[in-house]
Amino acid sequence: MAAAKKVRNIILVGLMGSGKSTVARIIGKKLGWQVCDLDRLITEKAGITIPEIFAGKGEAYFRRLEKELLATVLQQGEHLVVATGGGAVIDEENRRVMKENGTMVYLRAEIKDLCRRLGKGKGRPLLAGGEPEEILAQLAREREAFYREAQVIVDTRGLTPAAVARQVITAVFQDAGEKGF
Ligand code: S3P
Repeated sequence: MAAAKKVRNIILVGLMGSGKSTVARIIGKKLGWQVCDLDRLITEKAGITIPEIFAGKGEAYFRRLEKELLATVLQQGEHLVVATGGGAVIDEENRRVMKENGTMVYLRAEIKDLCRRLGKGKGRPLLAGGEPEEILAQLAREREAFYREAQVIVDTRGLTPAAVARQVITAVFQDAGEKGF
């Protein structure tokens, strides 16, 4: 039997509204692991909100902060549950850092469910100035292949956040050949 590898960190990826932050909090509680919300870290570091960063400094500046903080958090930390922003996967090096420093988990969701949760997209600059459903469908097309690089994929359709969290934990520890808890 192959030796069990240790699960270092759990990193959740997926489109806006897929439940990454909520599910990360539940997993953190269940495993007794620290939870890290990357969007929150970015706003703390910048001292302004995400819409303000996009409007005042531009998306490229946001992506630089996102990349820097993701690498810092993952290279230093162990037993972290990280909720990334939906676009963190666009960058190839980000994807490598996530896979090398933990288990990358894709929370797959239906566009109609994302729309229902996000409403008019308050606080999400990428959804401003357009039809959220169309924008999300376009982002899904652009990013699906990146999300699918995750070691674990969980289909969240019809599941509560608690059920998603349970599936993530089971799949992540199965992937590592390790017992969860
Ligand atoms: C983004 C998703 C957002 C946030 C920013 C950009 C994206 O995070 O990082 O608005 O590019 O999909 P959530 O996925 O937590 O909404």
